[in-house]
Amino acid sequence: MENFDFYNPVNILFGKGKIAELNKYVPKNAKVLMTYGGGSIKKNGVYDQVMSALEGYDIKEFSGIEANPHFETLMKAVEIVRSEKIDFLLAVGGGSVVDGTKFIAAATFFEGDEWDIMAKRAPITKAVDLGAVLTLSATGSEMNNGGVVTKAATKEKKAFGNPLLFPKFSVLDPEVTYSLPKRQVSNGIVDAFIHVMEQYLTYPVNSPVQDRFAEGLLLTLIEEGPKAIAAETPDYENRANLMWAATMALNGLIGMGVKSDWATHMIGHELTAFHGLDHGVTLAIVLPGLLTKLKEKRGEKLLQYAERVWNITEGSDDEKKTLAIQKTEEFFQSVGIATRLSDYNVGQDSIDIISKRFIERGYVGMLPDVEVTDVAEILEARL
Ligand code: NZQ
Ligand code: ZN
Repeated sequence: MENFDFYNPVNILFGKGKIAELNKYVPKNAKVLMTYGGGSIKKNGVYDQVMSALEGYDIKEFSGIEANPHFETLMKAVEIVRSEKIDFLLAVGGGSVVDGTKFIAAATFFEGDEWDIMAKRAPITKAVDLGAVLTLSATGSEMNNGGVVTKAATKEKKAFGNPLLFPKFSVLDPEVTYSLPKRQVSNGIVDAFIHVMEQYLTYPVNSPVQDRFAEGLLLTLIEEGPKAIAAETPDYENRANLMWAATMALNGLIGMGVKSDWATHMIGHELTAFHGLDHGVTLAIVLPGLLTKLKEKRGEKLLQYAERVWNITEGSDDEKKTLAIQKTEEFFQSVGIATRLSDYNVGQDSIDIISKRFIERGYVGMLPDVEVTDVAEILEARL
């Protein structure tokens, strides 16, 4: 196992009715800016629950944070935070709202071009405190310190992160996910699954704790995901288990001391930036291509995955690996996600543009086994 420093200070308030406890965690005399998206929280009662929990507080609102949040939109909120001297941000929404709010928190005190927080990973030395009420389980943003922001003007989607951006707390009430459209439930299952894969399906470093945690999360998603999609009405236990699995998939724990990749995410972000595809969808498209390309290099972990997660014990090593990749893709399809670029009318012209972008950038993920020249081949296999 490799050396690591693990730090995660996020208070998790998990379960039904937990929004009512917000007033224990939002500082009483703070000037609060509540941030949210396109209005789902007004329809499903979450807005009212938050407002009643925070009765008597000084709260302003900023709405309209879109999916794959735009730098341009978020900068309008930054202006409000600066001019109104806001000292606590409360994100109420999915990963986009939580990520967007982390950016607002970081950009408020930033001197210079705020896009550099992503583009140059410019250092963040001060941030506004934030908390979250999560309404979509997928990204893990509620318990990590990272985010992803899109510059609409240039179609760039880039990540940032800093320990100052951990939420002070996150409220996870599985009941608030009942109003999600099935499409977003599917996206969340796939996103969480691939977060685990980015940290697990790389190279062995003798880390049985992390590996078995990761395999437990994958098996949970495989068992609970299809149930959520098949259910006519949401089941509390099912949604609770999916929610906690998604949080655990990217709160840092399983990534400690192991080799993480994130190439699938990097390629996926380009598909979202150019075509607006949902984040989870892009990952379901890319991962089977990436694993096929790395079948030899990552063979050891792929075989472990085949045996422990898919119970594949027969056949040659190559057959086991091929079947594991096939089962992975079938799992994404079983939760309602089409996994080919052609399903979304994305063709060779886009692959050429995306591949060129990686060649200019000079890297893909965090491991050298995925080279910039591989991106075209990985995507062409997914047409
Ligand atoms: O905007 P509203 O009206 O709220 O509607 C949203 C949005 O349209 C809707 N929604 C959310 N909760 C709902 C609901 N609708 C009904 N009932 C509810 N309870 O769902 C739509 C999608 O929301 P969004 O927040 O965009 O989804 P998600 O949570 O999947 O977040 C995706 C973003 O997170 C980034 C992605 O790149 C993408 O930008 N990620 C962040 C990560 C992180 N911070 O660690 C890691 C991930 O890999 C990911 O990259
Ligand atoms: Zn993701």
